[in-house]
Amino acid sequence: MEFEEVCALRKSVRSYTKEPVSEEDRKTLLAAALQASVGKHNDKGYVIVSVTDQDVLNTLTREGAEKAGRPHLIFEAPLLFLICRTKDAVDYMEGFDAGIIAEHIHLKATDLGLGSIILFGFIHHLPPDAEYLKMLHLPQGITPLLGVAVGHSPLAGERRKADRHFGIIER
Ligand SMILES: Cc1cc2nc3c(=O)[nH]c(=O)nc-3n(C[C@H](O)[C@H](O)[C@H](O)COP(=O)(O)O)c2cc1C
Repeated sequence: MEFEEVCALRKSVRSYTKEPVSEEDRKTLLAAALQASVGKHNDKGYVIVSVTDQDVLNTLTREGAEKAGRPHLIFEAPLLFLICRTKDAVDYMEGFDAGIIAEHIHLKATDLGLGSIILFGFIHHLPPDAEYLKMLHLPQGITPLLGVAVGHSPLAGERRKADRHFGIIER
């Protein structure tokens, strides 16, 4: 897909079919994440956890509904990437780095004809000792910063309705 087309189709998708993302596409999305820029060359600062285990995803959704009163934290997407920090992440850089890694996945998913959405809410609304995190058995010191949910969606092929209305100052 041409870059302009990817940008025109990129949008936050909040509805997915049950069709799983193929292994090939999942690996392609991980490869796109590894092409992201990162502050201070800090490759050791981040780990990407790729979650397709339906029990884990269901538990996250259940916890969102029961503990946070939010039943649609990940919109029943069949694939969730957790962009996590390690003990080597630089505190003041981690948000920028995670956002850039997430955007790589989001844009590549669009390029593949998949729907996706960058998500912070499920991290914000669920506690660090949430059951879904325990089920992942992450090594100590690995903490989620941001997520990207991915899946098939009829909405994926639709163009985004509007661009941002950021202020622009030109001198
Ligand atoms: C850092 C970040 C975190 C986000 N977290 C959530 C979220 O938790 N839940 C959600 O529904 N959308 C989330 N979004 C999606 C935004 O709300 C979305 O980008 C916005 O609705 C604009 O729509 P668009 O992406 O289709 O242009 C997030 C987006 C970003 C960049």
